[in-house]
Amino acid sequence: MADLYAVIGNPIAHSKSPLIHAAFARQTDQDIQYEAILAPADAFGATVSRFRQRGKGANITVPFKLEAFSLSTRLTGRAQVARAVNTLVFETDGILGDNTDGAGLVRDISVNLEFSFKDRRVLLMGAGGAARGVILPLLEHEPHLLVVANRTEQKAHELQQEFSSHGNIVSADYAGLRGERFDLVINATSASLQGELPALPSGIFSVGSLAYDMMYGQGSTPFLKFAQQHRAARLADGIGMLVEQAAESFLLWRGIRPETAPVIEMLRAVSASGHISKTGGSTDKSAGA
Ligand code: ATR
Repeated sequence: MADLYAVIGNPIAHSKSPLIHAAFARQTDQDIQYEAILAPADAFGATVSRFRQRGKGANITVPFKLEAFSLSTRLTGRAQVARAVNTLVFETDGILGDNTDGAGLVRDISVNLEFSFKDRRVLLMGAGGAARGVILPLLEHEPHLLVVANRTEQKAHELQQEFSSHGNIVSADYAGLRGERFDLVINATSASLQGELPALPSGIFSVGSLAYDMMYGQGSTPFLKFAQQHRAARLADGIGMLVEQAAESFLLWRGIRPETAPVIEMLRAVSASGHISKTGGSTDKSAGA
């Protein structure tokens, strides 16, 4: 019998994870089945317990990543830092919680997009769950500087304090970015879900810069449109991160890393008509994984 996995969230109907993991399984010849499970907002724990009787592991998406963190009996280091869990491994004596979102983001940027962090100035917009989960993986790539900017500056400041021992990180509000230029600008806010854009000053993109939006979906996002108008050299949406975080989960479950490029290509074709979602979010109402 095939080993069973699932993605659990609410809503879940538009999740791309079943498609991604089916493609990984075909490609690596792994005998698995992967379902999408809708958990009632007030019954996440019960839904996981029920699925655990049949399944080997699960991906967890919005709005349950914080509950999955609490429910895990053992946590990986990166899940502990993110304080959110997007991957569960059902073990005989408990549940291991991991978070593959940050690793998925940096792998997409460094491997797929071939961006080298060395000596680069990086701007991360947002200070919510999605931003928190990617700060440590970004600092591990040792950029020259990581600036965390947020509408509510206090939240960015708290993240800066929490992560300051891991690298060169400073916090700002958007007005404070005036006159600064960055080689990589990452949008980890939920602004695009309301068709909005953080109040970025113009001139923020340095020559040859990469603009990366953790959102993906129909057409371009407000941030990527802004980036194009303000001369970012390269634009990327969150599809690569979505597939890379899934590959990282698959590796944890099956011990084999699938090829992501063909799956990213397939997803790009499918999601061109889908609604806007955010990869890596934990608390908002976007579709996530
Ligand atoms: P997630 O889990 O997806 O990160 P979250 O924890 O609710 O969701 O965080 C949302 C982030 O998007 C926050 O940084 C939020 O800024 P505030 O902390 O100031 O609320 C940011 N955000 C949402 N809408 C925004 C907008 N229109 N402009 C700028 N930032 C926005």
